[in-house]
Amino acid sequence: MNTKISELLDRVEQFSTNNAAEIEDFRVKMVGKKGKLTALMEEFKGVAPELKREYGQKLNALKQAILAKIEALREAAEASNSNDTKIGDTSRPGSAEQLGSRHPISLVKNEIIEIFGRMGYTVADGPEIEDDHHVFSALNFPPEHPARDMQDTFFIEKQSSEPSEKDILLRTHTSSIQVRTMERQKPPIRVICPGRVFRNEAISYRAHCIFHQIEGLYIDKNVSFADLKQSLLYFAKELFGESTQIRMRPSYFPFTEPSAEVDVSCNLCGGKGCPVCKGTGWLEILGCGMVDPNVLIANNIDPNEYSGFAFGMGVERIAMLKFGVKDLRLYFENDVRFLHQFDSVL
Ligand code: PHE
Repeated sequence: MNTKISELLDRVEQFSTNNAAEIEDFRVKMVGKKGKLTALMEEFKGVAPELKREYGQKLNALKQAILAKIEALREAAEASNSNDTKIGDTSRPGSAEQLGSRHPISLVKNEIIEIFGRMGYTVADGPEIEDDHHVFSALNFPPEHPARDMQDTFFIEKQSSEPSEKDILLRTHTSSIQVRTMERQKPPIRVICPGRVFRNEAISYRAHCIFHQIEGLYIDKNVSFADLKQSLLYFAKELFGESTQIRMRPSYFPFTEPSAEVDVSCNLCGGKGCPVCKGTGWLEILGCGMVDPNVLIANNIDPNEYSGFAFGMGVERIAMLKFGVKDLRLYFENDVRFLHQFDSVL
């Protein structure tokens, strides 16, 4: 019996696994009904009384060793299994996360803001839902101006059939932010106003009812048309390249006098004429002008002391020219095949 006990003790000591089924098998073989220890206990009944004490102690020690071994193996197996689920198989190749990227409109918007930032312009913001006063009246739009028509502007609330300063509408340009800036701040003023604007237009490859504008306003003493021209030339060169030229064509806006439309030399053909510039060598990019004295007066700024200029451009149009995109609707469709083309830009 002595040798059986010490043999079993050896086996218990040497046994090792972290497999739960194997541990259970070991338990059954040792302490199960037909197990080795159970058989020894049976044998123990027939041991001579004078040896009972000695063997009893040895059997007890064996039993403790078996139970301790099972317990230790179970704990180790559990710990190693839960580690498996936490870390996984560290030898497997990693799966790369797909990173998103900036929208092309945001890329161009940020670049424009940065260029004007270098000229001392700060960014101003304002609401998309506006009243007639901030979008039209304070900007010298006469009451019968067509922009005040439902055909051109999305109205949310109209006071009556007559235009009213209290009409609520979706802003048609971010010039409304310029009005809000003049209300808040005394000159000198130098702000850039980016934002979404809304116009009641049929959607096509070159027009959308929602688009983005960036407008600018500079008011100080002795601001001249020459300052406007030089600022826009610097801007065009920064955005489209050092060799870019600009030209100004006379135009009309209710809030500027004189007003001009600005073209840049076509960056695709270098001014020789191509399909994008329709053979003219020039591309229209923005509207601008000297702030009309009526606008200064409407906003409590003395036109005898101050003068200023304003300009405004559509971000989609600039982005189309910069990236050679021919259909403006692509910017709003969120097709990742289109958007991923701009991953590495800027
Ligand atoms: N607000 C004009 C528009 O939306 C653009 C503009 C701004 C023109 C400032 C001149 C001066 O078309």
